[in-house]
Amino acid sequence: MTGHMLIQNASLILPDRVTRGDLRVTNGSIATIAPGGGLEPENGEYTIDATGLHLLPGVIDPHVHFREPGQPEKEDLRSGSRAAAAGGVTAFLDMPNNIPNATNRATLEAKIDLAAKKTVTHHGFFVGATKDNVDDLQSVEGMDGVCGIKVFMGSSTGDLLVHEQKHLEDIFSNTGGIIATHAEDESRLQTRISEYAHRTDIAAHAECRDVECAFLATKRAAGLARDYDHRLHIVHLTSAKEADWLVANKGDLITTEVCTQHLTFDQDDVEELGVRALMNPPIRYTEDRETLWKRLKDGTIDCIVTDHAPHTLEAKSAGFPGAPAGMPGVETSLPVMLTHAVGGKCSVTDVVSWMCAGPAKVYGIEKKGSIIEGYDADLTLVDLETHRIISDEDTWTKVRWTPYAGRDLTGWPIYTIVDGEIVHRREVGGSLKGISVAEPGSTGRVLKFNRF
Ligand code: DOR
Ligand code: ZN
Repeated sequence: MTGHMLIQNASLILPDRVTRGDLRVTNGSIATIAPGGGLEPENGEYTIDATGLHLLPGVIDPHVHFREPGQPEKEDLRSGSRAAAAGGVTAFLDMPNNIPNATNRATLEAKIDLAAKKTVTHHGFFVGATKDNVDDLQSVEGMDGVCGIKVFMGSSTGDLLVHEQKHLEDIFSNTGGIIATHAEDESRLQTRISEYAHRTDIAAHAECRDVECAFLATKRAAGLARDYDHRLHIVHLTSAKEADWLVANKGDLITTEVCTQHLTFDQDDVEELGVRALMNPPIRYTEDRETLWKRLKDGTIDCIVTDHAPHTLEAKSAGFPGAPAGMPGVETSLPVMLTHAVGGKCSVTDVVSWMCAGPAKVYGIEKKGSIIEGYDADLTLVDLETHRIISDEDTWTKVRWTPYAGRDLTGWPIYTIVDGEIVHRREVGGSLKGISVAEPGSTGRVLKFNRF
């Protein structure tokens, strides 16, 4: 195919309207958009009849944990990228809490080299901050493939942690680009973790890592961004209190994101799903979930991510509180959100702006996230008609489970396309898992970020 194709009769989700039409891809770019159709195949061009399907820009998931290097039993760049492609995700940004952590130029270069050989999608990587690696952070500034600095202000999976004010100030005052913070207050966390040590019921997780933990750290990160005039992205916002506070305090320097699962689950799902729904920051309460929707709709929250954090079911079988925090999600986020759209919670255009255009804007990824002539042909053709119940066996993540098992979802990607090449295929009504079409390393490029 080499980046040429013609898609006919799709419902095109364009930035300003939804219309039936055709789209031609030439040399991996969107060459012609023809509302109303009328494009004819040229010179044996590969042609898809997309009647009944919706054409969306490929999803950009700017928050995944693909576990390479260090934990190949959970995920690696190949399995993670394939799972992404299965979910209509054509670009991902991967977090640095690996073994070893990605905290310097050498570890970042190694990840970027591996990704070139193993992924089928576009990719970028965060560099992890430690209390004393400002030189390393500076050494990767502006490097292709490095999207920002990740700061764990509170401890979570792995040992990356920077919580003392002087160390945070050092990072904010001596680096450029985007700082992405996991905002939970470490001292409050530690006090509460010992206070809650006797609790073995899953509800204790959200009580222990409470809204105040998150709110304190979010305010602190926002203060640092203001004081040092630094771009800040607050990852996985979970509470009504933080989201409401950001309405008046976000300013131009701060962006934020919400996870699919925080828009979908509440305390009742946590009771039902148990440790499968265990993550940091926690799934909270109905009121938080509904406020996150409200703040997404009013633009306070910029984008939707998955925090795809695979842990094996064996590790999860330790139960609460021993089980590791995190759940897979990169391959289900688009169907979950499109199911919300079909159910009337938002529009398909909203989903595109939150999952495609939003992340591209936050991280300064050019020519991606929208169906516009001249943009890269990263696309997904989804079926919004057929509802299917997903099970663990349908997944591509190495850990082979999903917190959405048993849920009836629509919006399954029938084709996922990267630079005009098909990377994942499903048949309408066929196997939910579908087929990974591309050879690892044959498609997908390292991303460039114009803010870093
Ligand atoms: O639940 C989580 N899991 N939260 C994080 O911050 C990290 C992630 C992981 O890597 O497992
Ligand atoms: Zn994360």
